[in-house]
Amino acid sequence: MTDTSHQPALDNLLSEDRRFPPTAEFGAQANAHAEMYSWASADRLSFWAEQARNLLTWDTPFTEVLDWSAAPVARWFADGRLNACENAVDRHVREGRGERVALLFEGEPGDTRTLTYADLQREVSRAANAMLALGVGTGDRVAIYLPMIPEAVVAMLACARIGAIHSVVFGGFSAEALRSRIDDAQASLVITADGGYRKGKASALKPAVDEALGGAADALGPLDHGAQSSVHHVLVVRRTGQEVEWTDGRDVWWHEALEAASDQHTPVPVEAEHPLFILYTSGTTGKPKGIFHTTGGYLTQTAFTHLTVFDLKPETDVYWCTADVGWITGHSYVTYGPLVNGATQVIYEGTPDTPHQGRWWEIVQKYRVSILYTAPTAIRTCMKWGEELPAQYDLSSLRVLGSVGEPINPEAWMWYRRVIGDDRTPVVDTWWQTETGAIMISPLPGVTATKPGSAQAPLPGISAEVVDEMAQPVPNGSGGYLVLTEPWPSMLRGIWGDQQRYVDTYWSRFDGMYFAGDGAKKDEDGDIWLLGRVDDVMNVSGHRLSTTEIESALVSHPMVAEAAVVGAQDATTGQAVVAFVILRAEYRDRVDEVGEGADVAAELRAHVTTQIGPIAKPRTILVVAELPKTRSGKIMRRLLRDVAEHRTVGDVTTLADSSVMDQIATGLSSST
Ligand code: WT7
Repeated sequence: MTDTSHQPALDNLLSEDRRFPPTAEFGAQANAHAEMYSWASADRLSFWAEQARNLLTWDTPFTEVLDWSAAPVARWFADGRLNACENAVDRHVREGRGERVALLFEGEPGDTRTLTYADLQREVSRAANAMLALGVGTGDRVAIYLPMIPEAVVAMLACARIGAIHSVVFGGFSAEALRSRIDDAQASLVITADGGYRKGKASALKPAVDEALGGAADALGPLDHGAQSSVHHVLVVRRTGQEVEWTDGRDVWWHEALEAASDQHTPVPVEAEHPLFILYTSGTTGKPKGIFHTTGGYLTQTAFTHLTVFDLKPETDVYWCTADVGWITGHSYVTYGPLVNGATQVIYEGTPDTPHQGRWWEIVQKYRVSILYTAPTAIRTCMKWGEELPAQYDLSSLRVLGSVGEPINPEAWMWYRRVIGDDRTPVVDTWWQTETGAIMISPLPGVTATKPGSAQAPLPGISAEVVDEMAQPVPNGSGGYLVLTEPWPSMLRGIWGDQQRYVDTYWSRFDGMYFAGDGAKKDEDGDIWLLGRVDDVMNVSGHRLSTTEIESALVSHPMVAEAAVVGAQDATTGQAVVAFVILRAEYRDRVDEVGEGADVAAELRAHVTTQIGPIAKPRTILVVAELPKTRSGKIMRRLLRDVAEHRTVGDVTTLADSSVMDQIATGLSSST
């Protein structure tokens, strides 16, 4: 838990002295103001109440702001009622913004679709009516397993419209991962597609749903509860036109169901604390956590942060967040924040290098994108491809650049600003998590003098600290653990079906404080620098992965006796998954036969792909005879990280058998 040996060298970060103060022009037109900080710190609750009233439309206005009496479960604006879809869609149409473009869709093969807010209202209404006809009601769970196409946004909003709770599962997750999520939430409907386009090919999705839904119990083993799947129906969007297997009575084509449904539907007002969605994320154990968010507070903070952190001007900006709706970034900064604010946004289905490495910049040029929000890993990949590529496109429409998902190294930050932003645009490094629901720590463009590599300060209305082991705030110039010291509107309300785990995971480490799991440092100005996870969670390309979850996947393979996984620093992906495995005796010969166990590695990588998904596939698998353990049997991942990062192995004196690291090192050098 306190192992911070893998973190970037603090001293390097803290010697960063480049500053980018806002220009007078930007400051004069900015949505954010310095006074927001003083207002919020003088009266945090009235600050948030005002945002909730100004940014949202309520069916029943709230009178109560925060109820913290059942801490750590917060209730915000609890006696108010509203509907998320009404806020994201209908009110724009009613108030004369129906002809404004909501979604500019760019498919990977180059097909396009434009949906105005009025189009969106009709589509979402049809989808809501179709879901009602399939028996989905308020409070029911709906799993969404779709590519990044407009239907993904429509499906989420249709759930919100009828008060159903969506659980989006990233399309890159495997059938097994999908099944455990469907099962945990007891979803009654799955919305999927035949497939989507990725890397120039039609990539199937429906077979994974068929496999997840128990028909394929033979392939995956019996369902956890030995019971029938909770799923009654599967709505299937036709995207690629590829062949699909069909289960009569269960499967329904999306286009047929929507055609048969009316385009008139009145959104159902729900209580502010009604759950809006569940989103599974990796924790420090093998079982993903169903983080759930509610309606009023979540929408307030996503809308507020989207307006101020990106300086959104809904009438003129074209906004593009490159995240998939399968992640929290896609929930808060594709579906909810931007649409509640009436933004016009681009959504892109595919990969950045299909059909060529300039695709993103071509999209920026084509749609005159003015605000771009992406991840450091993508920026570093573009750096690798070379700055000649973006230079071939007209990127002059850009005016704000955002970064999220992992620490951004100052070099990547500077490249982003110089090459993509023409040395002109503010860059905002935004720190937050699935659990926080919305951005928590970030500069405000037009207000903050930015520093390459630092997320800098908590937003107005947010209270964060860096504390030591004893929960005491560290002085400027020192490092510690990032905590949040006051409840915030878009905070998670718990872990679906396991409130004790919510308390244990986030609230037990430091009394009365939310522990984020990140290490951080305050510089001499008191600005915050994020240093990466301090627990057994890895961050690969901005995707959160659990070491334990991948270890469990590995040991579920008959060849593997034991496995230890570490996140090793990687120049492009931030961290990369490196696995050390001990094979069962009966398989050890196989390694000797091929020398390096190459076929074993290939088989195990494929196995992790089926168990979790391609994003969790180890970059490197090393077959070893022993793992370094303490006398109490705990694997010392720190030492394995030294090996994986090609460093001299650190202190081995606490190992039960101090020769183990020598054996591992010798084994590796003889195999390479
Ligand atoms: C973890 C949360 C928030 C959307 C994407 C990830 C890391 C996130 C930053 C940043 C340094 C960051 C943290 C955090 N992280 N943003 N700007 N600087 N680290 O959401 O999957 O819930 O992961 O991502 O380690 O705890 P997530």
